[in-house]
Amino acid sequence: MPNNVFEKSSKLNPVFKDERFLYPEFVPERLPHRDSEIDALVYALKPVTEGKKPQNVFLAGKPGTGKTVTAKFVLKELEEYSDRAKFLYVNCFRLNTRHSVLTEISNFLGLPISRRGTSSDEALDSVLQAFKKISFTPIIIFDELDQLVFQGEASALFYDLLRIFEFSKARFGIVIISNNPEILQQLDSRVRSSLMPETIAFETYNPQQLKDILKERAQFAFFPEAVEADAISVAAAHAAKLGGDARVAIECLLKAGRLAEKQNAKKVSVAHLKEVFSGIENRAMQKAEPFLSEHEKLILSLVPPNEKISSGSLYKKFSLKSGQKISQRRFRAFVSALEKKGLLECAFTEKGVRGRTRMIALKAK
Ligand SMILES: Nc1ncnc2c1ncn2[C@@H]1O[C@H](COP(=O)(O)OP(=O)(O)OP(=O)(O)O)[C@@H](O)[C@H]1O
Ligand SMILES: [Mg+2]
Repeated sequence: MPNNVFEKSSKLNPVFKDERFLYPEFVPERLPHRDSEIDALVYALKPVTEGKKPQNVFLAGKPGTGKTVTAKFVLKELEEYSDRAKFLYVNCFRLNTRHSVLTEISNFLGLPISRRGTSSDEALDSVLQAFKKISFTPIIIFDELDQLVFQGEASALFYDLLRIFEFSKARFGIVIISNNPEILQQLDSRVRSSLMPETIAFETYNPQQLKDILKERAQFAFFPEAVEADAISVAAAHAAKLGGDARVAIECLLKAGRLAEKQNAKKVSVAHLKEVFSGIENRAMQKAEPFLSEHEKLILSLVPPNEKISSGSLYKKFSLKSGQKISQRRFRAFVSALEKKGLLECAFTEKGVRGRTRMIALKAK
């Protein structure tokens, strides 16, 4: 008889060969139904391989349409193909100020500086110096650009980058990614006209396309025969209903697989899938979550879905739950930060007996 608790719990019927193939950040070797988007990106970046300036690009499309994974896939291929290119991936949820992005670029270009000890102008200068020394063409991906725009930092940062170009004639490429096809309108017109990115639009996947994507990923993640045939279609249909988001489809399959293993089932079934559907979170929330503080997460969890709540009631709930004394003022700062991140919507009511009330709701995507 096994005594060790881990040995006892070791799986009798594993369904996963390797579940990592279903992780959201995994970059697969094949991306079904993205051939034309890949071709367009390759075409825009190709000049780098000949030592020329690439075309800037803007990848626009709804959540889960494969923008991030396509950008990472193509840039990895480019790096493999040519020593002349190197890419930096910037997630603007993580780095949402001019200063933090400049510091990151300087580090990436081989001139390490610390974020704390330098001013933004020093960071810019360091980037400029670094550009003079490099022998490759950097391509910078700004994913979730909205976050830099919300913070009011995007135009200033792009000005800096354009200035670097003017001073040093340094070559570099920019890839912008956003859910909002209009986001560039919010940049200064001079920045916009210098960037002149070529737009590549990512359409949402239909159920059949989602099925193909799932099949491709499932083949590496699960043992053969470990997934009921209908389960893939059900996951695809569910994700199609939620707006054609491939991430939802893949996440459903991962969670259903874990549930099947927990129950020691031989196969991932339609029933497993249906059970996990309700636990799949709102997309905007999911993306932001790793970058939120505990207080911010708590506030979001206290706003009722599909309803507005007054700032005062939310503050009361928050004080009760957090068990700490946090001033109204700090609370309001948390709420504004969440509003800037595009997760909450705040609006004032018409003037009533007690003045205007601030009403807060979760932002629907
Ligand atoms: N064509 C595809 N083939 C295989 N996997 C895909 C494909 N398209 C998307 N995926 C997978 O679906 C998930 C979501 O894709 P991705 O993160 O690229 O979407 P996105 O367009 O960047 O969404 P968001 O705007 O929400 O950031 C990822 O796990 C990705 O690997
Ligand atoms: Mg993305």
